[in-house]
Amino acid sequence: MELAGGRALLTGATGGLGRAIANDLAAQGATVLLSGRQREALAELASSLPGSGHAVLPADLGDPGAAAALAAASIATAGGVDVLVANAGLPGTGWLPDVSEEQIERTLRVNLEAPIILARALTPAMVERGAGALVFVASLSGKAASPRSSIYNATKFGLRGFALGLRADLGPKGVGVSLVSPGFVRDAGMFADAGAKPPPGMGTATPQQVGGAVIRAIERNKPEIAVAPMTQRVMAHFALTSPGIAVRVQSGSAGQKAAEEVASGHPADKR
Ligand SMILES: NC(=O)c1ccc[n+]([C@@H]2O[C@H](COP(=O)([O-])OP(=O)(O)OC[C@H]3O[C@@H](n4cnc5c(N)ncnc54)[C@H](OP(=O)(O)O)[C@@H]3O)[C@@H](O)[C@H]2O)c1
Repeated sequence: MELAGGRALLTGATGGLGRAIANDLAAQGATVLLSGRQREALAELASSLPGSGHAVLPADLGDPGAAAALAAASIATAGGVDVLVANAGLPGTGWLPDVSEEQIERTLRVNLEAPIILARALTPAMVERGAGALVFVASLSGKAASPRSSIYNATKFGLRGFALGLRADLGPKGVGVSLVSPGFVRDAGMFADAGAKPPPGMGTATPQQVGGAVIRAIERNKPEIAVAPMTQRVMAHFALTSPGIAVRVQSGSAGQKAAEEVASGHPADKR
């Protein structure tokens, strides 16, 4: 679908990838409804974007009922939503017994339940118009599992299944459903913030590449765009077909080191 003149709701707008996605949506002529928890940071971002009419809708998606309220606020603010980019996410890292039940609930809600509830609330009007696009920012961790990431893996495997199932329902009704699945991203975002390095030879992508992939997904209704160098994409695909071998490889010393760096690099309140 065409983004120019469209209204796009973006969650996780103040994050490392969210900022790049917001810029690209606005540069394509969309009016962006920016969501996250930090009102001031959202307002600053809104005023820095190209175009006009961007709005700020603060929401803590870890709170029960917040996703449905955000969908209603988006419709009330913009008169409707043409594009959802469900990007907000928590790293969900750590050795399972050390993760509190509250952290588990919050991560499942932000990473998986909120995107589902937002999609449920926004889809009927898109179906009625016979147009619209839903983009879910998943991860290669939705294809390949790794140490210290069981909760994150659960949400991203789940998000991929949800999006692909929904695509089967909405495709015939003119509404696009896409996944954008980054691997390790440098410069900004939750992996870079942890100060970790990917295992040797894996390489990294940039937030700008993720933003570009979101635009391509919307405009061309792609089922899934993996944003990562070839080695990571091939290994993630292999992990889908041979999960046992892939988990053994990921649990080797290089994988353990990278996983430990990521998990220990996130403050407890961000997991
Ligand atoms: N960076 C990577 O290497 C990478 C790789 C693969 C996939 N991804 C995925 O890309 C997406 C964006 O990640 P990122 O790297 O940009 O992470 P980030 O810099 O940590 O940003 C996360 C965003 O999610 C929002 N968020 C977190 N908890 C929230 C809550 N309870 N309610 C509402 N918003 C909340 C944050 O908002 P606040 O400003 O309110 O904190 C922030 O805007 C995530 O879904 C992540 O899983 C990232």
